[in-house]
Amino acid sequence: MSTSAKPPKTQYTCSACGGVSPKWLGKCPHCLAWNTLEETVAEATGGARHRYQSLAKAQPVFTLSEIEAADVDRTPTGQPELDRVLGGGIVEGGVVLIGGDPGIGKSTLLLQAAESLSQRVKVLYVTGEESGAQVALRARRLGLSGSALRVMAEIQLEKIQAVLATEQPAFCVIDSIQTLYSDQLTSAPGSVAQVRECAAQLTRSAKASGCAIVLVGHVTKEGALAGPRVLEHIVDTVLYFEGDTHSSFRLVRAIKNRFGAVNEIGVFAMTERGLKGVSNPSAIFLSTHGVPVPGTCVLVTLEGTRPLLVEIQALVDAGGPSPRRLSVGLDRDRLAMLLAVLHRHAGVDSADQDVFVNAVGGVRISEPAADLAVLLAIQSSLRGKPLPSGFFAFGEVGLAGEVRPAPRGQERLKEAAKLGFSVALVPKANAPKKPIEGLTVHAIERIEEAIAVVRGL
Ligand code: TYD
Ligand code: MG
Repeated sequence: MSTSAKPPKTQYTCSACGGVSPKWLGKCPHCLAWNTLEETVAEATGGARHRYQSLAKAQPVFTLSEIEAADVDRTPTGQPELDRVLGGGIVEGGVVLIGGDPGIGKSTLLLQAAESLSQRVKVLYVTGEESGAQVALRARRLGLSGSALRVMAEIQLEKIQAVLATEQPAFCVIDSIQTLYSDQLTSAPGSVAQVRECAAQLTRSAKASGCAIVLVGHVTKEGALAGPRVLEHIVDTVLYFEGDTHSSFRLVRAIKNRFGAVNEIGVFAMTERGLKGVSNPSAIFLSTHGVPVPGTCVLVTLEGTRPLLVEIQALVDAGGPSPRRLSVGLDRDRLAMLLAVLHRHAGVDSADQDVFVNAVGGVRISEPAADLAVLLAIQSSLRGKPLPSGFFAFGEVGLAGEVRPAPRGQERLKEAAKLGFSVALVPKANAPKKPIEGLTVHAIERIEEAIAVVRGL
């Protein structure tokens, strides 16, 4: 913080070249980029750059072998699915960003976790969006006693930091970072400058005091609020909520974790009494068709350490002069590529058709092992013929038409067999060495083989 008696001044820093201007300008006078100037705090020495770089305390230098590799201490939150994505629990001084669409359940989950932690350690819940009374009402609805949980309704950063210093909690929730503002900046709460400054200051407090802090961030569509993405590099762990707000299931995915594995997911169900962890989620993303219908194919995907069965749906329908390709939960560019492979290597043409693809339940699938299931769903819709009941597939499809193996294929096959699936179409390298009871496995190497096998089923 500035030591001079003068009130701190703000300046505008270019996010592209770091150049500084005393006024806001549409175009950076240094690198001539448009719309890159953001308000930052001007300091007597060091400037804004200094503030962001000194998140860790100054330390003497050691050789790596001299440093004791102590495993970090984790405190479980009392929510096993949340602990799973956090890598075991909260870490002293760790800063977690949890993002998601409004109304998806961030406040609910954190209130539940904060309440359960407060029975063992000191917890402060800072609410900037709701009043204390609203939080109390929610806690009552969730059936939480909240007897030891400290709650503060405050949005000014300096006041929050003062309270953090006097209360010295071991765990603090900031709901949400976009409502906070610092006195040092004149821009409105929720602007990129405020969100960044508040998060950087809180991160420094966390590192200095050892208090674990969770920052809630709303993912916003284009608008006045800065999204949580601008904070990803500052914090230790980034979690995002996924899922359809209309369905009752919610996924929490770790995007970045300095204290654990990434891409682990936690699965929750939203009930009247808040979010309940789903410890065995493999079958929740299947829709329940009485008889097989055309245009669907079950995929076994591997999210974190657990296999999940997800139904992929496709609808292919006669399109206009420029047919549409839309996908929900899957990458659209990948869809275009897969359609080209299907045409070129398997002779299945959909050039004049609209193609819609959806992963059931709002789950987002990023692994390429979904390719084969996507293509089979599309082909099934085109033919108007369902895949047999109990059928599933996985495998990555390459541009040359080859079907590549997916990691940990055995686990996927076993999970599907356990859930009663009986016919699998998988890449040759994923075929099991020993037969799996109740499962017929068709192993293929190329997309045209896959299409031929399905036609004969
Ligand atoms: P909330 O945690 O307020 O969302 P966020 O903080 O991410 O904006 O979640 C609100 C939604 O969850 C709201 O639509 C109501 C629903 N809900 C339940 O279904 N059951 C409950 O017990 C609670 C507290 C909320
Ligand atoms: Mg909320």
